[in-house]
Amino acid sequence: MLRIIICILVLGALGWAGFFNRQQPLSWSDNERATIASLRLADEKTLLQNVIHTGNTVWDDVAAAKLGQQLFFDNQLSKNQAVSCATCHQPSEGFADPQALSIGISTTKRHSPSLLGAAFSPWFFWDGRADSLWAQALGPLEDPAEHGANRLQLAKLIATKYKPQYQAIFGPISDFNHLASHATPLSDNPLWRNNWQRMSVTDQDAVNQVFANIGKSLAAYQSRLIPSPSRFDKFAAQLLTQGSSDILNRTEQQGLKLFISEEKGQCIRCHNGPFLTNNDFQVTGIKDPRLPLGSGRLEGITIALNSEFNCRSPYSSTQDKDTECLELDYAKSSGDELNFAFKVPTLRNISQTAPYMHNGSFDNLQQVLHFYTRAKSQYSDTDVESKRDTSTLSKQSVTHLDIEPLALASEQLIQLEAFLNTLTSPINLDDTWLKKPN
Ligand code: HEC
Ligand code: HEC
Repeated sequence: MLRIIICILVLGALGWAGFFNRQQPLSWSDNERATIASLRLADEKTLLQNVIHTGNTVWDDVAAAKLGQQLFFDNQLSKNQAVSCATCHQPSEGFADPQALSIGISTTKRHSPSLLGAAFSPWFFWDGRADSLWAQALGPLEDPAEHGANRLQLAKLIATKYKPQYQAIFGPISDFNHLASHATPLSDNPLWRNNWQRMSVTDQDAVNQVFANIGKSLAAYQSRLIPSPSRFDKFAAQLLTQGSSDILNRTEQQGLKLFISEEKGQCIRCHNGPFLTNNDFQVTGIKDPRLPLGSGRLEGITIALNSEFNCRSPYSSTQDKDTECLELDYAKSSGDELNFAFKVPTLRNISQTAPYMHNGSFDNLQQVLHFYTRAKSQYSDTDVESKRDTSTLSKQSVTHLDIEPLALASEQLIQLEAFLNTLTSPINLDDTWLKKPN
């Protein structure tokens, strides 16, 4: 009997302690507070000062953003008149798309990333093969699996359909009437390539200039795609001014604590700053479906250095290439840590952008988090072998991994997911910007 009474008393005391513990606000150290402050979205004015707009003098011009919006939603910028940027970057899906591998003219090789906060990044694509937001846009337009268009077709479209808007921003445009209908130096279509080779250098240059300006207008539009403060940002603001906050519930706060812990979650090592990315490339062992050809950042930086539209190109409106192209000039272009490294994506509005990873291989956040607890590379030994045999890039291996398995219990994964869901908020723009303009 006595034993039973003791048991009841002990259990009761434990129960109360647990109850009080649940009610107590979590305490935050000075270090944790400083980290939380660094993850907060700044006010709009401060944020805009951090937009990276190398080579694009119209990045904050409203007329250019409006033209960019029209182009973003226009199906005529494609081979079959049925694909636009919005096909794979849908406003309702956090400007990503619900397919594992996006579908344009045909199926692409990677998953579509979110465009929120893209303007704060120095490198674009999962492998960073473009060094500016404007140069990035030129890729999908001529990619046979995406828009499948060619630059002459697009220059002609601008010279007819968009002439007044274009001229108001960039000055006079030729009508290109004396040229064939389709031409580009980059195509598997021999007719389009021949047409390009037959053009004079002056005509090629004029077409390239319009093509680059299409990219700059699209970049001006995308530079406005910034989220408004989410529940996390509101929590952070209150915590930092008032010392505590219950805007996030206890589970969400525990998730945040794990996220910023260097020992436990370790997420902060790579997902940091207001867009929760270090803008760098890391090896997590997520497999590139393009194997054995794709090799992540190692391949991406080589393409960027040789791109006809990079920071050093004549189409980049930089005043002084020696001081403005430092990011490109100093980019690391060799080393094991670049092999199979992919861009750390933003986690803003992450609840809207499933599936996840550059190959779209995880359907939901629990699967992503579960992956981090195992951190087992998706590459098999045979992949590594075949890569060694067939690739011209030597010393291929996935021996370099930037993550190690995390010792997290299933309850902690639920807490992390709850925190990730607090990073979603509407885009800080009038609805008229988020759809095809009339
Ligand atoms: C057919 C689907 C599709 C279309 C159409 C498309 N994209 Fe993408 N977009 C993708 C995929 C897939 C990626 C990732 C490709 C890669 O990394 O190799 C991507 C990457 C991007 C990125 C890089 C984001 C980052 O953070 O690195 C930007 C910006 C972007 N697209 C903007 C655009 C614009 C602007 C257009 C229209 C000109 C466009 N996309 C058309 C599917 C598409
Ligand atoms: C060593 C750097 C690193 C660490 C640490 C890290 N991540 Fe990532 N994360 C990445 C990279 C790189 C990708 C993209 C991988 C790919 O697609 O190949 C990614 C992808 C993701 C994605 C999918 C995003 C999308 O749009 O597809 C989520 C969600 C995510 N990480 C959350 C976390 C969380 C939560 C933690 C902590 C438990 C964490 N990450 C730790 C580098 C890291």
